[in-house]
Amino acid sequence: MTHSTKNALSTSQREKRGVWSSKLGFILAASGSAIGLGNIVFFSSNAYQFGGGAFYLPYFIALFLLGIPVMILEFGLGAATGKAFPSALHRIAGKKGEFVGWWAQGSALFITMFYVAILGWALGMMIGTFGSLFEPGITAPFSPFSEPTTGPSAMVFFFNLITTAWPLLCVIIIWALNLIILSKGPKSIERAVRVFVPLMWLFMIGLIFRGLTFDGGVDGVLYLFTPNVEGVAEPQVWKGAFAQMFFSLSLGLGAMTTYASYLPKDTDQVNNALLVSFLNCGFEYVAGIAIFALLFVFALNPAGSTLTLSFFAIPQGIAAFPWGVRFFGFLFFFLLVVAGLTSSISLIESTVSSLIDKLNIARSRALTYVAIPGIIGSLCFALPQIIDPDLAGNGTLGLTLLDVMDHWAFGYSLLTAGFFTCILVGWVLGAKTLRLTINAHSKLTLRPWFDVLIKYIVPAVLGSVLVWSLYDELTSGTMYGSDIELQGFGWIPYSIPAIWLISTLSVAFFLTRKETHQIKLKRTADLYLMDPE
Ligand code: PFF
Repeated sequence: MTHSTKNALSTSQREKRGVWSSKLGFILAASGSAIGLGNIVFFSSNAYQFGGGAFYLPYFIALFLLGIPVMILEFGLGAATGKAFPSALHRIAGKKGEFVGWWAQGSALFITMFYVAILGWALGMMIGTFGSLFEPGITAPFSPFSEPTTGPSAMVFFFNLITTAWPLLCVIIIWALNLIILSKGPKSIERAVRVFVPLMWLFMIGLIFRGLTFDGGVDGVLYLFTPNVEGVAEPQVWKGAFAQMFFSLSLGLGAMTTYASYLPKDTDQVNNALLVSFLNCGFEYVAGIAIFALLFVFALNPAGSTLTLSFFAIPQGIAAFPWGVRFFGFLFFFLLVVAGLTSSISLIESTVSSLIDKLNIARSRALTYVAIPGIIGSLCFALPQIIDPDLAGNGTLGLTLLDVMDHWAFGYSLLTAGFFTCILVGWVLGAKTLRLTINAHSKLTLRPWFDVLIKYIVPAVLGSVLVWSLYDELTSGTMYGSDIELQGFGWIPYSIPAIWLISTLSVAFFLTRKETHQIKLKRTADLYLMDPE
């Protein structure tokens, strides 16, 4: 077969899977995946927790050391193989690669479950802006909140909300929106992101403008941007910055590989990775400016869980606005929902696309396979039953489950999957092979330093962060969350990590072993010369 017939063949195969209609569509989708709750909720609370400017330098280093190289790798892998994560890894490293890919997809599904649950609460709060969110005299069925409040209290409203069945309905609505957007693959995703992503930027700029026009708003921004050398010596700051960077850029779980698999093979991936990373980090700083301005103007303390900042502190600040309280409150929660949706679709799409590639099934069937466990899981995280009435931890069954799952699945899976992907690409395929494959189409060529990063530096950094946190965890003497008095549910801290690990490992084992005659994946040492099948 000549090279051109082979190319024509692979092009039509790619079209059958789905393709982006333009580069802009891809950039909007990939930056929509990256910009999400991580940028608005987690970045600012991490930055605050680690002392504002102290976070700045490690985060900046993490961008160049880990973020951009791993994004180039994920984009390169997807575009070169034209496959979603497990099949792409199979092509470069055989069954062991595929196993890593499926394990990552299993974890992605767990993360989707609680990501959607958080979006459900955000939707509940958004609807609440038309109701009693900004009104005084509300109560919640927990001991500190049983007396009606004298002024508006976002915290009391939130605890009241999560003890009702409304979040269950909100979770179903968010899942339905995800499934609609994903119904036609890249085509329908592109239609949604063309509206949502520009809207997100517009809303965020509106919030900055509001924050900075208050007296004192600029002090918050200075806190965020003044480098703090003392904080930089803290190891925890570095760990926080690395984990945040991976999550924020949607790396590790194959979402970026899947999105890039809908691109033609000859797209410039270095350029794409730089563009998406800068758009993401730009949005993060923009969000940081808006949020820190509000925190300083209204002397708010977002300490506590990561949800505290967006669900209590920021709405509390908005409640003190001289005008437009409901409008800005609505804007803020709408922004959270939209930013979260463009990220959750990428998480779901990466699992759906992986199943389609492996099992050669229709999209609707793959969506059903993912949606059934996904919806059940998200509903569990929104369960309103009170199991911690003193509010020593999270209060309800759903929020407690979410907190423990977040700690394990979220805290470990992205970095672990990222670590193994670098090892597979760096050592089994050879970083140089991928580099040359990417260079064949990129204006800015990657030099051998890329190989050094992928083979040694990124795995060493990720490996040490992982070992170090696990060591910290195991030597602390208590299991995460086990010190909270959970009435009748003391098993949660122990069984959640077991459920996550056992189920993801068995799904990975089962799917990797499953032979499919439709897709004969061959391991290859040269991605560029080999067209997919
Ligand atoms: N990047 C998203 C955020 O910042 O909220 C979260 C995310 C999406 C992580 C997709 C991983 C992923 F595959």
